Amino acid sequence: MNHFSYRDGIFHAEGVDLAKLAAEVGTPFYCYSTATLERHYRIFAAAVPKDTLIAFSVKANGNLAVLKTLQKLGAGADVVSGGELKKALAAGIAADKIVFSGVGKTKAELIAALEAGIYQFNVESEPELLALDKVAAELGKRAPVAFRINPDVDAKTHAKISTGLAETKFGIPAGRVRAAYAAAAKLKHIEIVGIDVHIGSQITDLEPFAAAFARIVELARMLRADGHTISRIDLGGGLGVPYRTDNLPPPDPAAYGALAAKLTKGMGARLIMEPGRLIAANAGILVSRVIYSKRGEKRNFLIVDAGMNDLVRPALYDAFHDIVSVREPSPDEPRERYDVVGPVCESSDIFAADRDLPQLAAGDLVAILTAGAYGAVMSSAYNARPPAPEVLVKGGEWAVVRPRMDDDAYLATERIPGWLR
Ligand code: LLP
Repeated sequence: MNHFSYRDGIFHAEGVDLAKLAAEVGTPFYCYSTATLERHYRIFAAAVPKDTLIAFSVKANGNLAVLKTLQKLGAGADVVSGGELKKALAAGIAADKIVFSGVGKTKAELIAALEAGIYQFNVESEPELLALDKVAAELGKRAPVAFRINPDVDAKTHAKISTGLAETKFGIPAGRVRAAYAAAAKLKHIEIVGIDVHIGSQITDLEPFAAAFARIVELARMLRADGHTISRIDLGGGLGVPYRTDNLPPPDPAAYGALAAKLTKGMGARLIMEPGRLIAANAGILVSRVIYSKRGEKRNFLIVDAGMNDLVRPALYDAFHDIVSVREPSPDEPRERYDVVGPVCESSDIFAADRDLPQLAAGDLVAILTAGAYGAVMSSAYNARPPAPEVLVKGGEWAVVRPRMDDDAYLATERIPGWLR
């Protein structure tokens, strides 16, 4: 459930009229709902064992205002770069609620995380372990470490967002786990604290989770028998969300939480979870204005002012996003089938193909739904189109939480070297 709906004939974000908002801030823009973020976080928190650290995956939506909203509810953060670490800390998320994942942590990033005193490094390779030990020695610290294990489980999701198969770059192969922990135990500046897994994203079936969690628990038992302290089990993120209403919905958080509780029962370990999409996806939309309605030979095109640089998911993953007219259509008004496309000069700049919508014309507004996760964070400035602004709504209030960068400000980010002047 989310808090975007028609009121008095106009699509609203909570109490905010999106047509009025578009007139104030210009289009395209991302719009997030506080009530939806809060609702999703609370539902997830209620579904998982009580002491679980819920480390919101900042990569899904790193806007400071979104992070602050979640921080106030008690969320921690899962970060994958020094930049995300800085954002999480800036949003007031305590260092002891931050876990750091990712296959390519640089020395500078390891230093920043050690200095901040984060809760856990999810180490993804033996060379990373050695680098971390060295940096920790230089700083006179001990780094709390969990290895991310590659369980070789098929998450049955899109290939580009599947991370738990042996052929992906992620984690330590299960066959090398014992040796990796034995090596870590010998390092003075490493403190083994747990074990970690993450198999992919937009997973809509509980079975791959069950396989991965069971594997991790089995490995944790084995490592304990080897004498290691495994007091934390990080189960990663990945629970899918409904992108369309005409499909079976993914499992609900309660079923996911019950599965995690059942499979880790009796381990006496603290659980860590890293949800991203589940919290943010349906809490955000991308609002865009129709520039032209164009009749092609075979298709009708709605050319809107958002492009693949603003929301790349359809182009990159063939992702489906629902699209609605901001003005509520009446049940009997004529409809049309459109390809909803952006202005970017690529045929992959398409948000929806052959989509049934009310007849729309230049100047009309549309909202692209379920865009709160992996939307603004993945935007680029392709075609010299600076990223769209972001707005956070709370009840009847709204605030621009990332202003629009105008073309001049974007131009000013580049330099012509002296020899060309
Ligand atoms: N933890 C780790 C280590 C991850 O790699 C990810 C996502 C998450 C947690 C959060 O997963 P979530 O709960 O959001 O599924 N850009 C793609 C998704 C990439 C996900 C990468 N890892 C998309 O737009 O579908």
